[in-house]
Amino acid sequence: MTKWDAKYAAADGRLFGAGPTEYLRGILARSDFQARSALCLADGDGRNGTWLAAQGLAVTAVDLSARGTELARRHDADLGVAVERITADLADWTPPPGRTWEAVFLIHLHCEPEVRNRALRVGAEALVPGGWMVVEGFAKAQAARDGMGPKDPALFYDLDELSAALPGLEAVEALAGRVRLDEGVRHQGEAEIVRLAARKGGGG
Ligand SMILES: C[S@@+](CC[C@H](N)C(=O)[O-])C[C@H]1O[C@@H](n2cnc3c(N)ncnc32)[C@H](O)[C@@H]1O
Repeated sequence: MTKWDAKYAAADGRLFGAGPTEYLRGILARSDFQARSALCLADGDGRNGTWLAAQGLAVTAVDLSARGTELARRHDADLGVAVERITADLADWTPPPGRTWEAVFLIHLHCEPEVRNRALRVGAEALVPGGWMVVEGFAKAQAARDGMGPKDPALFYDLDELSAALPGLEAVEALAGRVRLDEGVRHQGEAEIVRLAARKGGGG
């Protein structure tokens, strides 16, 4: 059982809320965001992947936690959507050769930089030309604050590091700053956040 299996099993309600992150809603509301397929990396109990599927996208989701994936499947069923869900470790998961998506979402994956950067690379490679990479997570400054997330800044994001890990993608919008989160039982209050939406070149 992974650390995240235990957290999902012990959860009294949705850990991060039932709806998607505010950022993800904002991206979907953009007039230039036209993606019809999405790969959600580290989708957890499915709050983002399930919602994207309910918006009409064909969604594939990957998460390390079997328990989180099981909960996500239940949430898919509750909303009457079909999501392709895969339980796998992003330290070694690679999509089937030739498989691509029009958007990749990496939301609140806080893990060692090697795994995070590999996930970003694998996600970027799996994007079609012009496809969207959308990343949200705690900024390194969050480690010094009480409350949300682990205490090791190495597990968190920095906008420059994030951009450097995504060569060949051009930033469309980027934010590093303090926002108020109201997401489930775990993400409540002010937090230092990094948000990046970037597009792969070659989309015409
Ligand atoms: C903070 S939760 C966020 C879940 C979801 N993205 C959300 O925003 O609700 C982090 C998730 O990352 C997953 N995770 C952590 N390390 C992972 C890895 N190496 N491979 C795949 N998933 C991983 C955990 O299982 C957990 O579901």
